[in-house]
Amino acid sequence: MKFFLDTANVEEIRQATSLGLIDGVTTNPSLVAKEGRPFDELIHEICEVVQGPVSAEVVSTEANAMIKEGRSLAEIHEHVVVKCPLIREGLKATRVLADEGIRVNVTLCFSPTQALLAAKAGAAYISPFVGRLDDISYDGMDLIGQILAIYQNYGFPTEVLVASIRHPKHILDAALMGADVATLPYKAFDAMFNHPLTDKGLAAFLADWEEARETVAPEAVEA
Ligand code: E4P
Repeated sequence: MKFFLDTANVEEIRQATSLGLIDGVTTNPSLVAKEGRPFDELIHEICEVVQGPVSAEVVSTEANAMIKEGRSLAEIHEHVVVKCPLIREGLKATRVLADEGIRVNVTLCFSPTQALLAAKAGAAYISPFVGRLDDISYDGMDLIGQILAIYQNYGFPTEVLVASIRHPKHILDAALMGADVATLPYKAFDAMFNHPLTDKGLAAFLADWEEARETVAPEAVEA
């Protein structure tokens, strides 16, 4: 399972990648807007830091404009994956860009039949938004299961990138289902490390060691 980080914040990306556990990054216009930096320069820097796929989203809504935008995004860095919204024009652009060898992440997917269309358009990734479905009382993870089943039935190479993740339970469910990628807000990634029994256990090990230090490591005590 690949972990992408769902942020455009370079400091978060540096911190997470320094752990050696991050395979890529996803951004969207809202995340980029928060950073208040020139777009191309920001995306280039993120690509250099992560050295893996970095999704950068088009903001046009008409296919020809999306294609033009997608081509210029792909020129920013070899790691750029062009993100297109799951609308008719977006899939039309996806087909053209994919045929040119540009990887496309089709975003804003909320139904299994939308995901089927994206796979047929040649998307490299499909991004179903689980948290936003949960927010309106649907089970976002049900959608992941349905897409995985459909893609498996027909051998589509499109990778299922679980997006709009809110907490580690989403990540656990995605992993149990065999999703290809989870894109994680920094907070959810960070939360995965924590367990009170780990902290308690480590504190006890270190306290026991300290107490027996003169016997088990006399050379350390002498020094
Ligand atoms: C995915 O690529 C999107 O950027 C993201 O996961 C959306 O998440 P949100 O619903 O928390 O905004």
